[in-house]
Amino acid sequence: MKDFALEKWFGKYEFAVETDIGSSCIRPFGLAEFLKETGAQFPTDVSLGYRDSKGSLSLRQTIASRYEGATEDNVLITIGASEANYLALRVLAQEVPSAVIQFPAYQQLYEVLLSAGVDVSRWQMSIQNGYRPEAAEAGTMLGQGALLVITNPHNPTGALLEAEDLNCLHSAVAARDGWLYSDEVYSGLALAGQPRPVTAWRDNGRTICIGSMSKSYGLAGSRIGWMVGPRHIVQQCWGLRDYVSICPPALSEWLAETALERGAEIEARNRSIIDANLATVTEMLPLLGPKFEFVPPRAGVLAFPRINTEMTTWELCSLLAEEDSVLLVPGEVFERPGHVRLGLGGDPEALRHGLKVLARRLV
Ligand SMILES: Cc1ncc(COP(=O)(O)O)c(C=O)c1O
Repeated sequence: MKDFALEKWFGKYEFAVETDIGSSCIRPFGLAEFLKETGAQFPTDVSLGYRDSKGSLSLRQTIASRYEGATEDNVLITIGASEANYLALRVLAQEVPSAVIQFPAYQQLYEVLLSAGVDVSRWQMSIQNGYRPEAAEAGTMLGQGALLVITNPHNPTGALLEAEDLNCLHSAVAARDGWLYSDEVYSGLALAGQPRPVTAWRDNGRTICIGSMSKSYGLAGSRIGWMVGPRHIVQQCWGLRDYVSICPPALSEWLAETALERGAEIEARNRSIIDANLATVTEMLPLLGPKFEFVPPRAGVLAFPRINTEMTTWELCSLLAEEDSVLLVPGEVFERPGHVRLGLGGDPEALRHGLKVLARRLV
């Protein structure tokens, strides 16, 4: 498998810089803030032994209740969405000859398929049409029995597939006896004035949805994610996870259940962070000038502006990291040079500082 370019970039700079304006998480909770915000008591009675290797029954039930027609048997709790993606795509690679992926994409979503010999084509999102996905186009690209892989809301562009787009994709997939795979780790992040993201889940035996506590709940360090899918696929993934991680971390399951119960409060917190950051970007646009072409996200916490400079975006982001201590993600790691990934989930003051530094580099 090729190096995971985005994770390599973070591996080099994430903990070396002072200002991070490229990450995809909402500002993470500290434990004290989490307890205060949720009103929960730290659970001193949790057993720190091994857990149910599918994930605790109550957490699987809580998650299943969010997906119409799903039961706990459709759910596997994983170590982040990363493990869910790895297991599910390894298993699906045995079922499908080809795949179409919404692109650019989180590299894991296609690299696992490619490494298993699946023929992968790219359904391109483009800034020319404001990152509006043309669902009908994806349908025309699908071969017989193919897997369609979407990320909704989208990383890195902030694009959103709405309910009617998802209907259109489901029809195209069903017409070819295919599969629909939807990575929904950003789904809890609705934006003011935009439609709420909805899940692509259907209890039709051919849909797999992925979720996580990392992005929408500010709990990336809990490493809790999940998949919801047909029982036989979930069973196979469960079998594979015995070779990878055995079971989810004990305390983290408590964190996840507590956060899911207090979803409304956490969503309000997230909304205020992203609103403040979007307002900051809007205010800074005149300073950033015409070399910074910004399309606001429709959901989630990410934007993928185009940068029109002489130097490459790799060179620009390397300079920012090494000389200015500002982390931005170059489009090269998404195989889309000339763009940068901007994260809108952090501290607005840090974003203001990072964008000022970027503006100086763009003059
Ligand atoms: C689309 C997508 N899927 C999965 C992941 C992995 O998330 P987790 O922290 O839950 O493993 C990420 C992380 O950036 C992502 O952007």
